[in-house]
Amino acid sequence: MAAAGAGIFVTFEGGEGAGKSTQLGLLGARLRTQGKGVVETREPGGPIRSLLVQGDRAWMPMTEALLHFAARAEHLAETVLPALEDGSWVLCDRFADSTMAYQGYAQGLGRGPVEKLYELVVGRLRPHLTLILDIPVELGLDRAIRRDVRETRYERMGQDFHEKLRDAFRDIARREPERCVVINADQPVEDVHEAVWAAVRRRLTVA
Ligand SMILES: Nc1ncnc2c1ncn2[C@@H]1O[C@H](COP(=O)(O)OP(=O)(O)O)[C@@H](O)[C@H]1O
Ligand SMILES: [Mg+2]
Repeated sequence: MAAAGAGIFVTFEGGEGAGKSTQLGLLGARLRTQGKGVVETREPGGPIRSLLVQGDRAWMPMTEALLHFAARAEHLAETVLPALEDGSWVLCDRFADSTMAYQGYAQGLGRGPVEKLYELVVGRLRPHLTLILDIPVELGLDRAIRRDVRETRYERMGQDFHEKLRDAFRDIARREPERCVVINADQPVEDVHEAVWAAVRRRLTVA
């Protein structure tokens, strides 16, 4: 099973400042011009978000993974599943691959615990398509500085951490080539968008 209902579930993944939010907005706008129903959303959401993206608390990796999946449980029930049931395109800025990359790989929790939490919280649902925006670490962090000044907890985790993250996302893509497409995000916004659009057209015949 891919996703619930008749909708299409697309996730955007990658490191800080790769251009996920920018590209999600552009894809959403393009789909809407075609008359598609689109829901744009992001993770982590709700009140748990601030615990994870602000401040500098050093959670245990397991605690951090549990917080992400707790927020995800709410997000799935409140937003993602209803929209998919309605037949909408759901464009999600980060999803479970981020927990796998950040906590599973970069923070050392391992793949096993994250896979177990996925099964427990998400079950058999999988994104139809995951776009992994890939960019050299320094360039992404340089771009990220231009965003929300309070949401810097992950940005401040250091070069090594971010190199591990980049490798992690590439490994995830290698393991699931049917679901994931790696996009070179070190290009002008419009060129990245065309690469995103090409991947959507190639992978999702309904576009
Ligand atoms: N291809 C690009 N080239 C140059 N700047 C970009 C590009 N894509 C996004 N940006 C800018 O970089 C910053 C981070 O982009 P954003 O989409 O917020 O990244 P993310 O959501 O992956 O962290 C924003 O200021 C955005 O306008
Ligand atoms: Mg963003």
